[in-house]
Amino acid sequence: MSKDYVSIIDVKDHVGEEVTIGAWVANKSGKGKIAFLQLRDGTAFFQAVAFKPNFIEKYGEEEGTEKFNTIKHLSQETSILITGIVKEDSRSKFGYELDVTDLKIVGHSEDYPITPKEHGTDFLMDHRHLWLRSRKQMAIMQIRNAIIYATYEFFDKNGFIKFDSPILSGNAAEDSTELFETDYFGTPAYLSQSGQLYLEAGAMALGRVFDFGPVFRAEKSKTRRHLTEFWMMDAEYSFLSHEESLDLQEAYVKALIQGVLDRAPQALEILERDVDLLKKYIAEPFKRVSYDDAIDLLQEHENDEDADYEHLEHGDDFGSPHETWISNYFGVPTFVINYPASFKAFYMKPVPGNPERVLCADLLAPEGYGEIIGGSVREDDYDTLVAKMDALGMDKSEYEFYLDLRKYGSVPHAGFGIGIERMVTFVAGTKHIREAIPFPRMLHRIKP
Ligand code: 4AD
Ligand code: MG
Repeated sequence: MSKDYVSIIDVKDHVGEEVTIGAWVANKSGKGKIAFLQLRDGTAFFQAVAFKPNFIEKYGEEEGTEKFNTIKHLSQETSILITGIVKEDSRSKFGYELDVTDLKIVGHSEDYPITPKEHGTDFLMDHRHLWLRSRKQMAIMQIRNAIIYATYEFFDKNGFIKFDSPILSGNAAEDSTELFETDYFGTPAYLSQSGQLYLEAGAMALGRVFDFGPVFRAEKSKTRRHLTEFWMMDAEYSFLSHEESLDLQEAYVKALIQGVLDRAPQALEILERDVDLLKKYIAEPFKRVSYDDAIDLLQEHENDEDADYEHLEHGDDFGSPHETWISNYFGVPTFVINYPASFKAFYMKPVPGNPERVLCADLLAPEGYGEIIGGSVREDDYDTLVAKMDALGMDKSEYEFYLDLRKYGSVPHAGFGIGIERMVTFVAGTKHIREAIPFPRMLHRIKP
């Protein structure tokens, strides 16, 4: 595609040339005869320098002074077409700067609310539509993009077909207490919590499938890991064993980290992410530990100085302090395998010889990022699944399509789902999940 204006990220190909860039003024400084503009255009940030004597030489006293004064008085977030000569600049991190020769204002901006001083999170969230313009937010969005790109690439390379699950559904996929309900022409419908159940139908039709789309959970959790609307990638694979599924998940997560290292190194630099740590997660095998061994380990260490968690018995669910401690203990992403059936979803297959435990795994990210993937082997036997649903008091009429999959050529199969925002938060090394999606939806936030 040919383009009238050069992007900041591409100025490296134009050293010594005069180019025009469409940009916004992120910040400004200087005094007397010199003005420095911090420019951004979404691809990168860099500095433009305007020197008054150059303008007077080029345009004469009157016009030169006027042009220079316009530049000097530009306000934050004014959009401009700026022309200048690209120069290498070894002092700046970016490596280039623009020696300004001309400027045209495109759109004015008065009293931009987000100034370079510190603002509180609530204020920034209220101005999310503008906050997205800041350097750090741009970097996080670039990482999100790299992760989505790497997801499609990974599954394509591994022979998966993209199979889109519906967003409106007649049944719950996960915990029925966390459903958003809506009226569907007189009958209740729910916003999808995960595409998994439909994806299982896809796996019986196409062998290996994945979906990627928004999912919704009416969770009243106010933590740094929970959104009410988030994007999930689910994958489902016929004739796949538990161990093979873990291998696939490990390869996938490593491909995502590598994808960010390859495609968004500048973003990791802006966020000051420890890149050596990310490389270590790729180089070293992930840890695999059973739920029961993890409980033993937690009990053994509960009086340690760094053990900031409550005592757990076998059969109890982990809270986030337990997840944090376990993954930090191993220092690499860790699969906790075969949890109690009592707090996992109805569709999980029991461990052979141990009906109290199910063939599932949560992948816990280190550094306190918690669960990023949930996956399992699915119950493929019709009678066993029906018995389980009856025991849980589920309405089987809502799941006829799902039960049919066990009636007509059922096969062993497994799959998993990743919360993209959890993965973005982890790779970006940011504290809170709300910055990992353009417009976060949380317990007390639906605007902007
Ligand atoms: O562990 P979950 O609930 O698993 C499922 O939904 C399965 N049906 C997936 C499958 O097997 N296809 O959710 C999967 C992942 C979690 O590991 C977590 O990363 C993310 O989704 N997640 C959330 N992310 C942000 N906010 C929330 N409220 C989340 N709840 C789950
Ligand atoms: Mg889970």
